[in-house]
Amino acid sequence: MARFLTRLIDAQAVWARPLGDFVHGIVHWLFHRMKPVRDFLNGTWLGHPLHAVLTDVPIGAFTLVIILDIADQRQAADIALGVGLLAMVAAALAGFADYADTDGTARVRATVHSTLMVVALVIYGISLASRLGAPADRTVPIVASLVAYLFLAAGAFVGGDVVYALGNMVDRHAWRSRSAKWTALEAPADLPEGVPTKAKAGAQTLVLIRRGETIHALHDTCAHAGGPLSDGRIVDGCIECPWHGSRYDLATGHLRRGPSVYDQPRYEVRRTAEGGWEARRWTAAAH
Ligand code: FES
Repeated sequence: MARFLTRLIDAQAVWARPLGDFVHGIVHWLFHRMKPVRDFLNGTWLGHPLHAVLTDVPIGAFTLVIILDIADQRQAADIALGVGLLAMVAAALAGFADYADTDGTARVRATVHSTLMVVALVIYGISLASRLGAPADRTVPIVASLVAYLFLAAGAFVGGDVVYALGNMVDRHAWRSRSAKWTALEAPADLPEGVPTKAKAGAQTLVLIRRGETIHALHDTCAHAGGPLSDGRIVDGCIECPWHGSRYDLATGHLRRGPSVYDQPRYEVRRTAEGGWEARRWTAAAH
């Protein structure tokens, strides 16, 4: 079943890839002209993707519509439908903010997801419009909301796939060891001033930035989608990811600008007695 559904979703790439590239061009252009709005919709302030929080509201409201329609609670069903529609628009805005920085297969599947959701939104709109005026016969609005729910469920399935199967908007360091053990660091003896420099600490790749006597070290893999921070640039005390422009504070790894919603792992660096380097992940518990 799972393989069949995956093949079915991937088969949609014929239309979803060109459509996704076209829509992405517009959405990317739009949101990158209003970065504070994009950051808010990404959930940078929340430390969690806002889209994932908002999507629960319309799904709950539209489930309630079915129950209330069955119970013939007309007014309550119509109110739940209106609430669901408003929440769906809010979730869509947050989703498009994430979509603005989504690439590759994730973008194709996110296009299938958003298309299904837009179809559901339109049918729910028809259902709501046909409920206005309190018609005696509610066959059309009820059937419409049931059909819309099928599109909603299919869209939610594909959306879950974008996150759980492809890891879109998942912290790239979710499974990274938090061990505070010192590890030998392979770094140039003379680090250039203010230039992001890649260095290996065991299996981990770090980016080092020397500023005077201080050496800042963060994990090189951007928490958002894995971009190499060592290819980024230094801006206002932050390192900016070259892929989508997330910024992390050099000293703390704290997120300063999205689309990432996660902080970047920070490392401590020290000289060894032999004149080499070693590093360990910074954790509050070790201090
Ligand atoms: S990979 Fe997207 S901002 Fe770094």
